[in-house]
Amino acid sequence: MEELKQAILNKGVVVSNGVLKVDTFLNHQIDPILIAQMGQEFVKRFNGKEITKILTIESSGIAPAFTTALELGIPFVFARKKKSLTLSSNLLSAKVHSFTKNETNEITVSKDFILEDDKILIIDDFLANGEAALGLASLVEQANATVVGIGIVIEKSFQPGREKLEQAGYQVESLARLASLENNTVRFLEEVATK
Ligand code: G4P
Repeated sequence: MEELKQAILNKGVVVSNGVLKVDTFLNHQIDPILIAQMGQEFVKRFNGKEITKILTIESSGIAPAFTTALELGIPFVFARKKKSLTLSSNLLSAKVHSFTKNETNEITVSKDFILEDDKILIIDDFLANGEAALGLASLVEQANATVVGIGIVIEKSFQPGREKLEQAGYQVESLARLASLENNTVRFLEEVATK
């Protein structure tokens, strides 16, 4: 997605060989126009699939999940990382380990919001090791619902997330694929492929 690649090049900050900071438009401050374009692009990428609901995880997945759901005119649900005060039983849950942050969260969604006949598109902001997406897919499968696909805003293609998700049988669509962040430079996968 060209607009996203330009935003990454113009506003992203390479923090280390493995981490890209994009908090001016995605992770902290939100660019609503760009995020709306992401929603339109996800809808194109999963065109023809029957989707009944979007599932994401708080917090940075919420904005792109919202714009995708708005485009499709369907609800979206976000998994919580902390237990809600009003939601203590009737939960689907999965453990998600973050290698980046070296912490494990139990993610939860109410059983009321993922039903057996739901066809779910999972959306998240970053794909690194794939643990968050696999945890979300596990919630869907626990409810005997169907994962239609997984939409990612920024994929770090030098980490094993995509491979794990594809091995598990999921269609993965990423709006930007990073080949490398080495030498303080963002390189997209397509550039490398055409060289
Ligand atoms: P994984 O789910 O693919 O295994 O990824 P990982 O555990 O490595 O990611 C944990 C958190 O770190 C996630 O955010 C993810 O979005 C974020 N993250 C991973 N790599 C990058 C990166 O290069 N840049 C940025 N900005 N974030 C990255 P989170 O803890 O869920 O935070 P939030 O959604 O509340 O913002």
